[in-house]
Formats: sequence, C-alpha cells, structure tokens
Amino acid sequence: MTTHYEVHGTVARITLSNPPVNGLGHATRLSITEHLQKANADDAVKSIVITGAGKAFSGGADIKEFGSPKAMQEPNLLSVISALENSSKPVVAAIHSVCMGGGLELALGCHYRIAAPGCSVALPEVKLGLLPGAGGTQRLPRALGVEPALNMIVSGEPVKSELLAQIPGQKLFDKMASSAESLQDEALAFAQSIADTRPLPLVRNLPCKHPKGDAYFQFARNMVKGMAKNFPAPLKCVDAVEAATKRKFEDGLQFERELFINLMWTPESRALRHIFMAERAASKIPDVPADTPQREIKSIAVIGAGTMGGGIAMNFLNAGIAVKMLEMKQEALDRGLATIRKNYEAQVKKGKLKQDKYEQRMSLLSTTLSYDDLKDADMVIEAVFEEMGVKEKVFKELDRVMKPGAILASNTSTLDVNQIAGFTQRPQDVVGMHFFSPANIMKLLEVVRGEKTGKDVLATVMALAKKIRKTAVVSGVCDGFIGNRMIEQYGRQGGFLLDEGCTPEQVDKAAEKFGFAMGPFRMGDLAGNDIGWAIRKRRYQEKPDMKYSKTADLLCEKGRFGQKTGAGWYDYLPGKRDAIPSAEVVQMIEAHRASLGITPRKISDEEIVQRLVFALVNEAAHILEEGIANKASDIDMVYLMGYGFPIFRGGPMLYADQLGLFNVVQAMHRFAQNPLDDAKFWQPAPLLARLAAEGKTFN
Ligand code: 3HC
Ligand code: NAI
Repeated sequence: MTTHYEVHGTVARITLSNPPVNGLGHATRLSITEHLQKANADDAVKSIVITGAGKAFSGGADIKEFGSPKAMQEPNLLSVISALENSSKPVVAAIHSVCMGGGLELALGCHYRIAAPGCSVALPEVKLGLLPGAGGTQRLPRALGVEPALNMIVSGEPVKSELLAQIPGQKLFDKMASSAESLQDEALAFAQSIADTRPLPLVRNLPCKHPKGDAYFQFARNMVKGMAKNFPAPLKCVDAVEAATKRKFEDGLQFERELFINLMWTPESRALRHIFMAERAASKIPDVPADTPQREIKSIAVIGAGTMGGGIAMNFLNAGIAVKMLEMKQEALDRGLATIRKNYEAQVKKGKLKQDKYEQRMSLLSTTLSYDDLKDADMVIEAVFEEMGVKEKVFKELDRVMKPGAILASNTSTLDVNQIAGFTQRPQDVVGMHFFSPANIMKLLEVVRGEKTGKDVLATVMALAKKIRKTAVVSGVCDGFIGNRMIEQYGRQGGFLLDEGCTPEQVDKAAEKFGFAMGPFRMGDLAGNDIGWAIRKRRYQEKPDMKYSKTADLLCEKGRFGQKTGAGWYDYLPGKRDAIPSAEVVQMIEAHRASLGITPRKISDEEIVQRLVFALVNEAAHILEEGIANKASDIDMVYLMGYGFPIFRGGPMLYADQLGLFNVVQAMHRFAQNPLDDAKFWQPAPLLARLAAEGKTFN
C-alpha cells in the first residue's frame, strides 16, 4: 500500500507512503480514496488527518506517469480532491517539509490545513511547462489572495510556510504547528477540536476578486510575456488565475483543465519534463550502485592557477571546501589569486556576495610552489597546459606526494585520460574532471571515466559535483569526450555552409533564431578560433581523408582569433563584446569560394539549422553506440548545460526524437547528395539508422 491508515481515538490518519517524495501516482490516489471511504464508514471516527511519511507531505503528481494512460486513470487527482471535499467528516491536511504541485492542490481540497514551519510550499508546474491542473489556479488565489497566488503560480518558486502564514487574511493555513516534530500530535488534537464543526469549510466557496482586475492582469501579462520568451505556460497561468476571479468555480476548474491538457502535449513541456528527469538520471551510473562507498573529501589541491585553475578553485571555496593552489612561479600564483579576488569583488560590488562571505571564502584558499605541501589533500585537480609531456611530469609528482587514497583528477579537454593514469602507480584513483569555461559559472562537468577508474572514485566525484552545484555527466575516454567531439562536427558544417554561400552572420542568426545562446561563429570568437585551429592541424595529420573547409584556417592566418584579438569572424570595438559583421571576412570568404570555383547559392535557415543540429545528432548516435555516453539523456544534459542548446527543445537527442528519427535520417540522405558537404559523415550512425527503421526514439 502506498498510504497507511491508523486510528488514534476518534481521529483516523491517512499517511502517504510513496517514497521518495509521496508522488501522487495512480496507486497512491486509489489508496487515499479507499482509506477515506474506510474512515467515513467507521462510526468511531469523527475526523480525519492526511499527511505524508518521510521527507515530504507530497511532491505532487507523479511526473513519471505523465504521458501514460495511468496519469488520467481514475481516480485521477481531481476525483481524489473531490472525494476529500465531499467527505462527510472533516479532513485536516498536516503539511510538512515539501508541499508542492498536486500535493498542495490536495491540501487545498481538505477542509483544514495545519503546517509545520520550514515547509517549502509551491505550485512548480510552470517549471515543467505546465500549470497546476487539479484546481491550484482556482483554489490558491481564493486561499492566499490573487497577487501572491499568481506570483507563486507563474514563478513556480517555493515559499516557506511561515512566510505564507503571515500574509494578511490568508486562509491557506488554519494553524501553524509550533515545530515539525510536534506537527502530528498537534494535527490530531486540531482534528479532534473541529470534529463537530458544520458546515465544513471549503476553499472553493471563498470569494476571489481583485479590486483592479483588468489593469492588474494586463500588467501581469506584460511582465510575464517578457520573461516567458519561448515558453507558453507562464501566460496560460495568468489566464487561469484571471478566470478564477471572473468565472464560477466549476467553470474556472474546467478552463484550467483544458489549458493543462493542452500544455501537456507541447514540445516545450516535454522538453522541461525530460530535463527534470535527465538531470536526476545523469548522476546514476549503470554499474555504480547508489550505495557504492565514497571517499571523504575535505580539502582539494589545484595545480595551475590559470584560466581554468582559478575558476575550479572558486567552486570549492563557494562550497566551503579548503583549496590549495600550486604553480611553478610566484608571479603565476599572484596572478591567479588576483583574478579570484577580482571575481569575488565584482560579486560583492553587485550585491551578490556579502563581504564576510567573501572573506570567509578567501580564508579557505592557500597557495604553494611545492608539491610536498599537497600531501594532505584528499583530492587534486590538475589544470596545467594541454600537453601530454607537462601532464606526465605533474602526474608523476602527484603520484610521489599524494597520500594513499587521494583522488587524482585532470581537467584535460582533449588528452587521453588512460595515458595520464598510466603515469601513476594508482590508475584506479585517476579520473577526468572536465570543467567548462568560466569554470565557476558553467553548470556542466564531464566526468571522464578511465579504463581503470575506481567505482568509489566515480561515486565520490559525482557526489562532490552535486555539492559544488554542477550537473555531472559521465563520459568514456575518446577524443573530445562527449561535448567537444560533437561540436567538431557542428563546426565542420558551419565551415561548409560558408563555402556554399552563407555569411557567418546568416549562420549565427539562423542558429540563434532556433534558440542557441550563440551561433557557431560568435561562439568561436568567444572561445578563441585558435583552439579549433590547433585541433584541425592535428586532424590533418591524423585523419587526412576527413573533409574540412579551409575558411577558418585563412581567418586564423590573419590573426583573427576572436574577441581576445579584437577581431575574428566579426569585428569588435575595444572593450566591447558586440559582434560587428566584418567586410574583410566576407571578402575573404568570397575570394576563397571563387578560388574553389563555387557559385554561391541561397541557403535557407531551415537547412542551416538542420545541418548544424543533425551533425550533432549523428555524432551523438556514434557516441552512444560506442558506450562513451551511458544514455541519450546524458548527451542532452551536456548540450543544454555546456553548449547553450535551447532549453525549450530539451537537447539534441530529444529534439531529434520529437522530429521523428525517420525524418532525421531522410534529411541526412539528402545532405549526403551535396558534393560540397561530407557524404561519408552523413551516413546515419548504425544506431540511428536502426532506431529510425524501427520507428523508435533515443530517449
Ligand atoms: N513525481 C515523481 N518523482 C518525483 C517527483 C514527482 N513529482 N518529485 C521528485 N521526484 C523524484 C525525483 O525524480 C528523484 O528520484 P530519484 O531519486 O529516482 O532520482 C527523487 O524524487 C528525489 O528528487 P530530488 O533529487 O529532486 O530531491 P530533492 O530533495 O532535492 O527535492 C523536490 C525534492 C523539492 C520534491 C524536488 O524533487 C522537486 O522539485 N520535484 C518536482 C515537484 C514538482 O514539479 N511537482 C509538480 C508535479 S506536476 C503536478 O503536480 C501536476 C498537478 O498540478 C496536476
Ligand atoms: P592557462 O594557460 O590559462 O593556465 C595553465 C596554468 O598552468 C598556467 O598558469 C601555468 O603557469 C600553469 N602550469 C603550467 N605547467 C605547470 C606545471 N608543471 N606545474 C604547475 N603549474 C603549471 O590554461 P587553461 O586554459 O587554464 O587550461 C588548463 C587546462 O584546462 C588544459 O588542460 C585545458 O585543456 C583545460 N581546459 C581549458 C578550457 C578553457 O576553455 N580554457 C576548458 C576546459 C578545459
């Protein structure tokens, strides 16, 4: 059973017991109604308490059921709430810890509510691209007032129960318990005290008006429209709450239901639900069970105080973990330290960080020039120059000084982690931790699993990532790991598009209209075009058959490395980041095109986007098939968190799934016919071809 039933004197208590968060799946809904009937049928019972076991009252509807028939199977949530409202005996919700979504809607259907302090209360459906679908948009404005309710519904953000209780005139909570510990006893006593009260109060019967309704909702719509951008749900939330103020309760409920069902089928909601699940799934590694022992990490050493080393150090300082940074020379240490200070001071200036917090963080940071000073650190992260010879020296030193059991991590972005592990006598302790620049800001962390990396090391690093608020995704060892291996194909398509007739601006605009934070050429200018150049030079040796556009090389030969040199695919004014289309670059592209004898053609935005995105998808399918990524949703997380892929599309793999893999494969066959593109690359990866033929999806 997913609810428990017990009788205390004259009070029956129904306890939701569906870990982890008492999601209101079908079994739980059924069990609530059965126990409610039982309580109503028992003459000895005068009133009823409903509460949740474990770490939540309820986290709401079971997200895993969405899209399956079970979600709507009777009793659905509306029917359960209706049964609560119609109970002939008073029902009291005893709310604690987490009361969200359908959980809050359930509570609002009860006759009374008593809450523990410290409880996170929310209607977070909007974060899943939805709106509350079981009366939340109709009952919360009645219980709390229109403005605070709309605020909660549109933002989806949790508010603490004790703050809500202070809202003048609120009817959300009839009583606040004095503590979480005493909630259950106080709820039983309260239920006993109101056992004979009639008529039973119902939130649906409360008035719902706004004194300046039309103006208020117009204002709200204007605000929300600006924020919601590509997501339809927030504006629908406004519509639904407005309906609560203008329509009869049942009509409002019906209207909410229609909006909810329509939103459920939008690609945006699918994307957000996918991301919710994918984010949690990413931390799970198939052969590393949740109970794998972890190593204790209290202090960290960072080798190299350059661009990455400084950012990496900040992550740990922010989480209250002591960091020791090592460099070759005092000047480099001083420079690194100054950059960290500057970053924190900017945050203090903007009011994002309190002065005492800043000082506290800096006090956790120490520096050294000697490896022997690192011997007590529980973990070391290397971020020195990207050269195998330098990595070899560093890892041999680390192997000499680090205490047994310390984790030895490398932030390498391209080098072979197995080879790096081989420089030590303890390859089981070596792992890749590929942070993204700026490392203190970007959410993504690729955890690179070497052939010999210990399972306890992986479990520890994944848990540590959570502590420093990163989304960690495991990648096997290959050139570029998941993200950069894919971006190379995307970049190659960008080059072909220039050769065939596009300008950088046209390609970037198409990609940005699709939703990318930045198109490929603006991104190149930001990251530094010389990085790609170095990789290509290596590729020309390793893979002489691979086809590349030479345009990017010509750009680099002119020293146009991007923002850092004041010129790249675009021109930049000193100290400014605005990309200004460059006549010189356009001329260069046209001259190169002419030298190849290519007559430019007009290329549609649709073709631009498909070639860029499907290039990612095809490479990703190879990555998945080779076991470099554990699951398709991990690849989506890499692209969403590390490469600015549009959130509302849910990642390249979900996007391809939603288009239909058959259609994706058909497009690839078309691209393969283009003599200026790379026909070999456009052969669909075997996994992709198989899934498309079987009518299946990646996710
Ligand atoms: N349904 C199913 N599973 C859920 C869930 C839900 N509503 N909420 C959380 N979970 C699961 C997670 O998938 C995770 O599972 P895992 O252990 O297998 O990975 C587990 O619960 C723990 O989740 P977190 O790691 O997020 O745990 P936290 O303690 O950090 O956070 C929480 C708990 C605040 C409840 C957070 O999980 C959360 O925000 N959940 C989403 C709540 C939500 O959006 N509810 C609305 C659902 S839609 C709805 O109710 C529709 C209705 O209006 C009709
Ligand atoms: P950087 O050049 O800014 O910093 C490297 C630092 O390491 C320098 O301060 C240098 O003095 C120091 N160093 C070099 N050899 C050393 C040694 N033997 N002992 C101690 N310190 C030494 O380089 P950056 O960009 O920080 O890159 C570092 C690593 O991070 C590389 O492996 C790179 O591939 C990787 N990386 C870089 C990203 C980026 O966007 N810059 C992104 C992700 C990974």
